[in-house]
Amino acid sequence: MVQLKTPAQIEAMKPAGALVAQTLAAVKDAARPGVSTRELDQIAAAVIADGGGVPAFLNYHPRWAPTPYPGVLCTSVNEKVVHAIPDDLPLQPGDLLSVDCGAFVDSWCADAAFSIIVPGAAEVNVFDQLMIHTAERALAAGIAASVPGAQLGDVGYAIGTICREAGFGLLQDHGGHGVGRSMHEAPHVPNESRPHRGLRLRPGLVIAIEPMLQAGGRDDYVHLADGWGLSTTDGSRAAHVEHTIAITEDGPLILTRQ
Ligand code: MF3
Ligand code: CO
Repeated sequence: MVQLKTPAQIEAMKPAGALVAQTLAAVKDAARPGVSTRELDQIAAAVIADGGGVPAFLNYHPRWAPTPYPGVLCTSVNEKVVHAIPDDLPLQPGDLLSVDCGAFVDSWCADAAFSIIVPGAAEVNVFDQLMIHTAERALAAGIAASVPGAQLGDVGYAIGTICREAGFGLLQDHGGHGVGRSMHEAPHVPNESRPHRGLRLRPGLVIAIEPMLQAGGRDDYVHLADGWGLSTTDGSRAAHVEHTIAITEDGPLILTRQ
């Protein structure tokens, strides 16, 4: 069931959004060659604890996962698309790093992600840059479509159109979700859809929008052996960006803006 939030509840969700944004900013700053994704995870744990929050991913155990999630962040490097567990490998210049973070503050959740190219490479891979830029444009278009009176299908249509026109694939069966007292609430938010379909968007709906892009087609991904991470089938790179937004009378409000 979709739980609409009151204006006061949306106000109460702002600290969670701000803490996730602050955490991601600290992680982005620290993502340099030689640093491991486990070190980034430790930085995130410290920022969330200092801010009075509780990590949302750590020990999260949905039905489909073999084990509780062991990290504070998902750190998906290069061919990893999403949900990759932090490890001890040092980042390399030019790596495409996607970082996803969720936290609770005052029992309200927020969830967001960015993708960057790790600095320091002699040459920038323009294809990777284009994929990240397209993911960001798709997210912005999905947010812009999230206005009262529109429908969920309009959000997926806005995201899907931008990705398709730029020649990127979106992962089948993966998308955004409602956010509130839990990280994953109804409704499912599609990354590809036909317009004028689905749930009517109303003030009080809080959703995470999260396009996941890759060069291949929509079913070109595989699960990693740990049961959590998703990787592209052919080893090509992928990008993921996400914001938690509230739909208000005045339009979409980004709760996780950095
Ligand atoms: N933004 C991701 C999602 O909604 C967060 C996953 S958290 C994990 O799927 F713990 F499940 F990895
Ligand atoms: Co999410």
